[in-house]
Amino acid sequence: MTTPAFTPRVFSGIQPSGGLTLGNYLGAIKRFVQMQDEAYETIYCMVDLHAITVWQDPADLARNTRELAAGFIASGISPEKSILINQSQVPEHAQLGWIFSCVARMGWMQRMTQFKDKAGKNTQNVSLGLFGYPALMAADILIYHATHVPVGEDQKQHLELTRDIATKFNHDYGVDFFPLTEPVIEGAATRVMSLRDGSKKMSKSDPSDASRINMTDDADTIAKKIRKAKTDPDALPSEAAGLADRPEARNLINIYAALAEQTVDEVLADVGGQQFGSFKPQLAELAVEKLSPISTEMARLMADPGEIDRILSDGAEQARAIAAPILARTYEIVGMVR
Ligand code: AMP
Ligand code: TRP
Repeated sequence: MTTPAFTPRVFSGIQPSGGLTLGNYLGAIKRFVQMQDEAYETIYCMVDLHAITVWQDPADLARNTRELAAGFIASGISPEKSILINQSQVPEHAQLGWIFSCVARMGWMQRMTQFKDKAGKNTQNVSLGLFGYPALMAADILIYHATHVPVGEDQKQHLELTRDIATKFNHDYGVDFFPLTEPVIEGAATRVMSLRDGSKKMSKSDPSDASRINMTDDADTIAKKIRKAKTDPDALPSEAAGLADRPEARNLINIYAALAEQTVDEVLADVGGQQFGSFKPQLAELAVEKLSPISTEMARLMADPGEIDRILSDGAEQARAIAAPILARTYEIVGMVR
């Protein structure tokens, strides 16, 4: 349980390691936008320090960071309602990250499935940062005493680790200083799957561009990717239970439901019995209708990078006003002479 003494505060982050995908939008950003209007302070972050746990070309990293900021704003995150930052401009993240590297245990980190997936057979050759990544992620959240973190399903294990780190810190130092953060994993599309393989998550790092819808894809590209999406030969069922063993069909229906803000059963009440040949064009039309205003606005914002940089620099100033006293108190608890 979150201790009620903590201000209700939301933090979440996305890596600027490539373009935004429909998975990021439906799994994370859509919820970020809604939470701005609920009873929380909201802080949203481009996690550039996390991105370099795998190689990033410097010019691409800078461009992707600004493009991600444009994506946030174009999707409805308002710099008036939320603090929008890139991680490296708030050095307190990395400073608390070090302390948490000394709290987290090797055995905890070795259980992280995202590390195992990303490292694959290459465990001796990946960066030390990739292994330690979840300690920095815990610091991103706890440097603000954030109480709620909206994310997609794949981040659940990292949020459990964040709670473990807070618990161990509080216990070891005999304090009640860090809150136990609640994950917010909600909506019809907390796990959007690849369009080419219904058992794999849609990801910006998938080598196949056809596997994902990018927020910057134009209408023709979106329609073509949906037309070519892997499916099965059967007609659509009329109820959600009929999707149980049909991962590709389930994925396309989930995407439709999330975009239309309907439940899966509501969608199936309309399209049940149809073949994919008639459903896919409807999905493509809906996706274009929802995504094209965002990509148009992103392009407009990207034409003025100076304005984006100003927003991020303002955000960093506001963020540091929250983070600096929490870091100072942490150092004091740990026994660092100030
Ligand atoms: P990343 O792009 O890995 O930095 O992820 C940023 C946010 O988007 C996290 O909250 C993820 O859980 C979410 N996310 C990424 N890919 C997907 C997906 N395929 N389905 C749902 N959520 C996703
Ligand atoms: N690890 C997250 C991802 O790969 C990104 C992230 C970094 C994050 N720090 C965070 C998400 C803090 C939520 C809160 O998607």
